[in-house]
Amino acid sequence: MKRYGIVLAAGQGKRMKSKTYKVLHPVCGKPMVGHVTDALAQAGIDRTLVIVGHGADAVRDYLGERAEYVMQHEQLGTGHAVLQAAPILAGEEGLSIIVCGDTPLIQGETIQRLAEYHEQSGAAATILTAEVDDPAGYGRIIRGHDGEVARIVEHKDCSAEEAAVREINTGTYVFDNRKLFAALKQVTNNNAQGEYYLTDVFRILNEAGERIAALCIEDVTETIGVNDRIALAEAERYMRERIVKRHMLNGVTIIDPAHTYIESEVVIGSDTTIYSGTILKGRTVIGEDCVIGPNADIANSSIGDAVTIRYAVLEDASVDSRTSVGPFAYLRPGTAVGRDAKIGDFVELKNAKIGNGSKVPHLSYVGDAEVGERVNIGCGAITANYDGFNKNRTIIKDNAFIGSNSNLIAPVTIGEGAYVVAGSTITHDVPDDAMAIARERQTNKPGYVTRFRERMKSKKRET
Ligand code: UD1
Ligand code: CA
Repeated sequence: MKRYGIVLAAGQGKRMKSKTYKVLHPVCGKPMVGHVTDALAQAGIDRTLVIVGHGADAVRDYLGERAEYVMQHEQLGTGHAVLQAAPILAGEEGLSIIVCGDTPLIQGETIQRLAEYHEQSGAAATILTAEVDDPAGYGRIIRGHDGEVARIVEHKDCSAEEAAVREINTGTYVFDNRKLFAALKQVTNNNAQGEYYLTDVFRILNEAGERIAALCIEDVTETIGVNDRIALAEAERYMRERIVKRHMLNGVTIIDPAHTYIESEVVIGSDTTIYSGTILKGRTVIGEDCVIGPNADIANSSIGDAVTIRYAVLEDASVDSRTSVGPFAYLRPGTAVGRDAKIGDFVELKNAKIGNGSKVPHLSYVGDAEVGERVNIGCGAITANYDGFNKNRTIIKDNAFIGSNSNLIAPVTIGEGAYVVAGSTITHDVPDDAMAIARERQTNKPGYVTRFRERMKSKKRET
C-alpha cells in the first residue's frame, strides 16, 4: 500500500517568541522539521508533503528536494493545514502518515511500527499516544466504555475530568487516506481556540462507526512537542543523550556524557575517546583512535585517525592522521593540516595548508599560507598576510626552518631547505637552501653598564 507523509509546518510558533519560524529551530544542530522529515524517510514513505505557511521560503530552502510543498496561506488550525493537501491527495488510495513539524524526537522506527500496527488492526485511523506524568498542553485521548478511542479533546477544551487523563496525543497518526480527507471536510472551528482541529477527525470517524486504534509508546521522550523554549531545551537534552548513546554503542568512549555535545550529523570512528566539555558540530567527521578534548569545539571539520585535539577551536578545517593540535589552538576556515604534524599552544591558523610532518609548536599566526613538509616554524614566528588592502600569500617550501619571532611579510616565498634566522623580518623571497638574516647586527659595549650605574647613583645622592 502506498504511504504518504504529511508534515505540519505552517505555524509561526508564537510561544517561541522568536524571529525564527518554529520548525526551523535547531535541536542538536538540525532544524526540527529536518528531524521529522528524516524520520519519515526511514519509514518507507512514497511521497512527503510539507504544509508550509509562516516562513515557507525558509522551510523550502532548508528541505529542498527532500519534500513537496503545500501552501497554507492562513493558519486556521491543524485540520485546515492537512486539508490544503486535498487537491493532491484526497483521491489517492493508501496510508497517510501525519507528523507535526515540532516533534523532533519522533523516530523512524516508531513511525514504521505505527504504520504496521495500523495495517494489522484494520482501523480507519491509528494514533500514537503516550502516558505522561504532566499532560498539560497536549490533546487527551478519551476512550469509550469499551476501552476504544472515542475522540481527542484539546487541552483548552478539556473538562476537569478530561484534563485528568494522562494518555496524550503525540501528534503522529496513520490514516486510511480517503477516509481522512472525507472526515476532514466535516471539521468545524467551534472550540476554545476557534481553530479547525485535525484531532476532531477522530470524533467524526468514531461517530461514523469507524474504528480508531491507538499505539501507546513506551519512550515518552519521543513525544515531546516543542511549543516554547523550555520544551526546546528539554528536546535538546533528550536528543543529546540519544546521540551520545548511539556513539557509545558504536565504540566511542565518552568520558563525561552529560558534558559532551554532539550534533546529529557528526560521524566518529571507533576507539576514539571524547573528553569533557567537547562540542562537535555540523558535518564534522572524526576518525578512529583519536583523543578529543577536554574542551574541543569543532565545527564542520574532518579529522583523521589517531589525532589528539585538546582545548582547541576548529572551524571548516581538516587535520590528517597522527597529528596533535593544542592546547589552545585556533584553526580557522580553510586550514588543512597534514599527517604527523604538530600544532601547539597559542597558534592560530587561517586558510593555511600545513604539510606532513611540519611543526608550528607555539605562539604563531599562519594565515593565507602554504607550508610544505617537515617545516619547523619557531616560537612567535608569524606571517604578515594583510597590508590593510589585500590578503597576501606566504609560501614556505619543504624542510625550511623559520627561526623564532620571525616576521614573514607576504607575498613572500621561503625556498626549500632555506633557513630564516630568528628575529628576522623577511620582505624578499629566500632561495632554496639559503640562509636569510634580516635584523640589526648586535653590538656589545664592554663595561658600559658599570659606568652607567655609577653615574646614576651619584645623581640620586645630589637630589
Ligand atoms: C497539537 C495537537 C494536540 C497534540 C499536540 C502534540 C491539534 C489541534 N492538537 O497541539 O492534540 O497533543 O499537537 O504535540 O492538532 N500547524 C500548521 N498550521 C496551522 C496550525 C498548526 O501547519 O494552522 C502546525 C504547526 O506548525 C505545528 C503543528 O502543526 O508544527 C502542531 O501545531 P501546534 O499549534 O503546535 O499544536 P499543539 O497545540 O501543540
Ligand atoms: Ca505543538
